[in-house]
Amino acid sequence: MKEIFPGVWKKGDKILTENLVLGSRVYGEELIREKKTEYRVWNPYRSKPAAAIARGLRNFPLKEGMKVLYLGIASGTTASHFSDIIGKNGAIYGVEISERSIRDLNHVAEKRGNIIPILANAKKPEDYSWVEPVDLVYQDAATDDQSEIIIRNAERFLKPKGFAIISIKTRSIDVTRPPREIYRQELAKLENHFQILEKIELDPYEKDHMLVVMRKK
Ligand SMILES: C[S@@+](CC[C@H](N)C(=O)[O-])C[C@H]1O[C@@H](n2cnc3c(N)ncnc32)[C@H](O)[C@@H]1O
Repeated sequence: MKEIFPGVWKKGDKILTENLVLGSRVYGEELIREKKTEYRVWNPYRSKPAAAIARGLRNFPLKEGMKVLYLGIASGTTASHFSDIIGKNGAIYGVEISERSIRDLNHVAEKRGNIIPILANAKKPEDYSWVEPVDLVYQDAATDDQSEIIIRNAERFLKPKGFAIISIKTRSIDVTRPPREIYRQELAKLENHFQILEKIELDPYEKDHMLVVMRKK
């Protein structure tokens, strides 16, 4: 077992995070015990940051104690691993537009204690203006204006030199154009606001997706 990023381990091909809530699963993932610690297997077919790590990502800035604004948190599959990594001293403000998903997320949040569900539209950050300044903004709301959404939220909530991660889904932006062209167009917008630290395509785990790790300029 090797720690590849703070709070993220690798055992063979498996990516793991240390379970914050002993014995508890979030999406049917495998639990592994090693000495006295319990780990949850982070499935790259179910979660884009895990896909990026499986593809060889070198920059993953999430750490213990961080405050995170998560746009498009859904029912908390990926957020549960972020919650393991940031631990009890961190917090995830999870914005989600679907009431159904928020209901499922509420159960995960209750158990974990470091996820704050917010039923809102990520296009309207003024509706959750009470959120504190954060160390990282993560954007996985699949809309045709994904880049504009992360830029607007980062302007409002991200601390100076804070980190931002976006999962670009080309089919949400324009199904008719080649993915490469869309990546280029979105990266050009993002570069006006962020320093791009790394970009990585997620095939074969997620087709036509790219994860981009950035830092506020
Ligand atoms: C790909 S799913 C997120 C999966 C989740 N990030 C994970 O890895 O566990 C995209 C989510 O974004 C939400 N969404 C779409 N548009 C949104 C918006 N404008 N504001 C907030 N959430 C939005 C959808 O309801 C959906 O739950």
